[in-house]
Amino acid sequence: MADRAPARARILGTGSCVPDNVVTNFDLAKRVDTSDEWIQERTGIRERRIALPGVRTSELCEDAARRALAAAGVEPAELDLVVVATATPDMPFPSTACFLQERLGIRGQMAFDVTAACTGFLYGLTIADQFVSTGKARRALVIGAELLSRIIDWEDRGTCVLFGDGAGAVVLGPSEAQDRGILATRMAADGSFWSILNLPGGGTAHPTTLETVGAGLHKVKMHGNEVFKVAVRSLHEMAEAVLAEAGLDGRDLSLFIPHQANRRIIDAVSKRLGVPVDKVYVNVDRFGNTSSASIPIALDEVVRAGRLSPGDTVLLDAFGGGVTYGAALLRW
Ligand code: COA
Repeated sequence: MADRAPARARILGTGSCVPDNVVTNFDLAKRVDTSDEWIQERTGIRERRIALPGVRTSELCEDAARRALAAAGVEPAELDLVVVATATPDMPFPSTACFLQERLGIRGQMAFDVTAACTGFLYGLTIADQFVSTGKARRALVIGAELLSRIIDWEDRGTCVLFGDGAGAVVLGPSEAQDRGILATRMAADGSFWSILNLPGGGTAHPTTLETVGAGLHKVKMHGNEVFKVAVRSLHEMAEAVLAEAGLDGRDLSLFIPHQANRRIIDAVSKRLGVPVDKVYVNVDRFGNTSSASIPIALDEVVRAGRLSPGDTVLLDAFGGGVTYGAALLRW
């Protein structure tokens, strides 16, 4: 692992990948008692991508990673650090980061998974920022990747309409200019809210048995109303914290990229922050909630659409099960 002079960390390249298979609200209305109108009105989601059977999370990671590496002009072998944020790993262990390492044909660098649900990518970014900005790593790969379709209860209309599959990646390296890169990050968690969003089975609390599977403990459980309220409050708090650290407010942002869980949550938080509608990036209509992949997929879309110029100020803001929450402020 490299050991060089401290510098601000900067995103050198982005990449993403979503499965080709599109599942619309109309498709879901054939499986559960719901409608396109209800889903769009309550969530803003029109469709999501669902991977076909046999696909693994590390495959999505590889596609997103190779695109981010190509965009950054970095070879896999140059990586000092590989961080994968996921709630849907290939296996409980080894980590999906190790499977990804093998897929990329690299070895020797530190590679591990982060478990922070939908906030996982920002947790991973914060960790990698520490390594890059202190000179401990020169090239770091951070990925958010999920196959949520594998852990969703497809009979539960309260959750199955919300989620989708996908992966997004960034490559970090030291910035040549001190005023460009990651300006501030703030991560937090509040375990007292664990019960509002979780997957209870398969761990040591409820090791997998015929009974736990029969009771559906291997599927996501959620109290949507409570999640909604905590999400709006936490997203707002974290955004304000990083903006204050940089001496900015919501009106100074070039772009706000919030976690894509629900259009109404995004609108409520943007309004509280005073971010104009045209500065808020939304793709939840096309992908649903892809958990840890949602922010890096959105960021990659924005970058590839040429929406960011050097000097732009970008706010990333996420919330997820745990509960976990966090924000990162970037100067592009
Ligand atoms: N289609 C039709 N009706 C549905 C439905 C669906 N897909 N899902 C739930 N309903 C019904 C409920 O059964 C309930 O019916 P009832 O009044 O007869 O009991 C009614 O709609 C209202 O349910 P409620 O849960 O109060 O709706 P809501 O306005 O809170 O919307 C969510 C539900 C899930 C869309 C919303 O709470 C939400 O988005 N929460 C945040 C979830 C989230 O973002 N999770 C991930 C965080 S990272």
